[in-house]
Amino acid sequence: MSTMKKRRTSNPASELLVAPEVAEAFTLPSSWYTRPDGLQAERKRVFGASWQLVAHAAALANPGDYATVNLVGEPLLLARGDDGVLRAFYNVCRHRAGPVALGSGCRRAFQCAYHGWTYGLDGHLRQAREIDGTRHFDPEAFALVPVAVAEWGPLVFVNLDPAAPPLDAAMAPIDQEMRAAGFDMARVAPRVRRDYEIQCNWKVYVDNYLEGYHIPFVHPGLFRELDYARYQVEPRGHYSKQFSPTRSAGTGASQSGYGRYDAGTEALYYWIWPNLMLNIYPDNVSTNVILPLGVDRTLTIFEWFFEPGADDAAVRDTVAFSDQIQQEDIVICEHVARGLHSASYDRGRFVAARESGVHHFHRLMAAALLGEGQPAGSDGMLSSENS
Ligand code: FES
Ligand SMILES: [Fe+2]
Repeated sequence: MSTMKKRRTSNPASELLVAPEVAEAFTLPSSWYTRPDGLQAERKRVFGASWQLVAHAAALANPGDYATVNLVGEPLLLARGDDGVLRAFYNVCRHRAGPVALGSGCRRAFQCAYHGWTYGLDGHLRQAREIDGTRHFDPEAFALVPVAVAEWGPLVFVNLDPAAPPLDAAMAPIDQEMRAAGFDMARVAPRVRRDYEIQCNWKVYVDNYLEGYHIPFVHPGLFRELDYARYQVEPRGHYSKQFSPTRSAGTGASQSGYGRYDAGTEALYYWIWPNLMLNIYPDNVSTNVILPLGVDRTLTIFEWFFEPGADDAAVRDTVAFSDQIQQEDIVICEHVARGLHSASYDRGRFVAARESGVHHFHRLMAAALLGEGQPAGSDGMLSSENS
């Protein structure tokens, strides 16, 4: 077995790992996609420092409603209190780290599955069994540890960063644009969910979502229905927007897929840092949540939201067309994952006219893991998990 050293490519024109201009920049080093310990830093600085979609508001509408979720390894508990306030906590008992709640449902209080300590819906410790002989025990200091939580339309988000700016601030520009285009998240309800597990790093999947450049090659069916020449990507702040008008009937568009929409109808696609996509069509909205299961394993959760009364045929058609595109994306992403492990590949260049969204994501990744000033000489190295 040779110990061929991975070829390294650096950008002679930039001091920074990912140069500010797409036309100058190189892609992130392949080690960012392949290092087994890469997820450690991402857990903290990417997934632990951003708003994460974790639940449906409808499942947490009434006092006592609760849900447990696993957010990239963090067990969390969401619960609506008797006061009507939705709260989130680490689902970790303050005694010896047992699970405070399992599954989902509705209850008056929580009881740890390990030794039975009980907690109120607001997280306070109600009772620690047989604790009397323990000296200086202050139950108030043993409440569940809270997590920031907020709702947007039918969706519930959490943020593990206690200093996070409010969700509204992050969603406001998107919310306004959607409303201006005639969409209202408050009107739609969840209808279908599909999970897909993909053998690639989560960033491979996000990269792929962020450009339409691959559509002619990877998605011939979609290519026939979208006006590729007018496909646009607009990176902004912590999100980016892609849009593409559908083609007119008679130019190859089918009556399934997007062909049932009027020609020129705009499909709107938002990617929201770091791992959420919102796909907006005239009669439905879908969310994609992209979660790392390991450095080379990714879970993508697709959910479709329709207005009440949407007919089954439209739902089936939408899901089937999306599934076709997803299968095509899975095949190419798994090839790319193998390519990134190759000794021959380190960094690529962006096609400036088509890949500004991928560049934007790579800039945000570098800023999150290396700091805004991405130091020179940091090529290929995630900063270690100190601090
Ligand atoms: S770990 Fe929860 S009661 Fe012991
Ligand atoms: Fe794709």
